[in-house]
Amino acid sequence: MSSIADIRTDYKRASLDELEVGTDPVAFFSQWFSEAERAAVNEVNAMTLATVDEQSRPHARIVLLKGVSNEGFTFFTNYQSTKGRNIAVNPHAALVFFWPELERQVRIEGTIEKVSAAESDEYYHIRPRGSRLGAWASPQSSVIAERSVLEQNEKELAARYEGKEIPRPEHWGGYRLHPLRIEFWQGRPSRLHDRICFEKDDSGNWSKFRLAP
Ligand SMILES: Cc1cc2nc3c(=O)[nH]c(=O)nc-3n(C[C@H](O)[C@H](O)[C@H](O)COP(=O)(O)O)c2cc1C
Repeated sequence: MSSIADIRTDYKRASLDELEVGTDPVAFFSQWFSEAERAAVNEVNAMTLATVDEQSRPHARIVLLKGVSNEGFTFFTNYQSTKGRNIAVNPHAALVFFWPELERQVRIEGTIEKVSAAESDEYYHIRPRGSRLGAWASPQSSVIAERSVLEQNEKELAARYEGKEIPRPEHWGGYRLHPLRIEFWQGRPSRLHDRICFEKDDSGNWSKFRLAP
């Protein structure tokens, strides 16, 4: 078995320049997202979400992107989870996508707020029944004695809602990250990667600059 220190990839697929990214980073994100879908990137909408707690300690985990627009990047979760509690005390957060098949990374930083109850309802009700029950059955991020706690919860909930509509729990819903900074990274040979970054000013205008890799 080779040493971990010997694992490395030289990136040669593509390049990225200032002209190509245009002036609207959300539109360019959508373009890269479509290209990642076409390249059959595994779990293309999986993104690392980093949040910070009240003691300034960071926490990171994967969540799934469920929508993108000029308003921002939307995902769904349990509002009482660790991430939910972090966001309640500190709305600043970061997202990272890594699409290895395209040798691309996108980093997004900004502030998070809850989506409307109507938007959470709309998404909750298109989820499969099992996922809707799961939102009730799992007290996300709480310590549980054993797995059977979840299975028992699920069994009881399935019986309670048999043949009935399952309402959305108030503690489950969407968040939207409003981007203030978006960086596009394209791997290049010899670690001389391309990094083009956008930053939003107080009037909502994006500026663009290149960063050293
Ligand atoms: C591929 C993948 C997708 C995931 N998607 C979500 C998601 O959309 N929402 C969510 O709450 N957790 C999702 N999770 C689980 C989270 O990574 C995490 O375990 C959970 O949200 C609890 O995080 P927290 O304790 O930091 O709040 C996903 C995990 C993986 C590996």
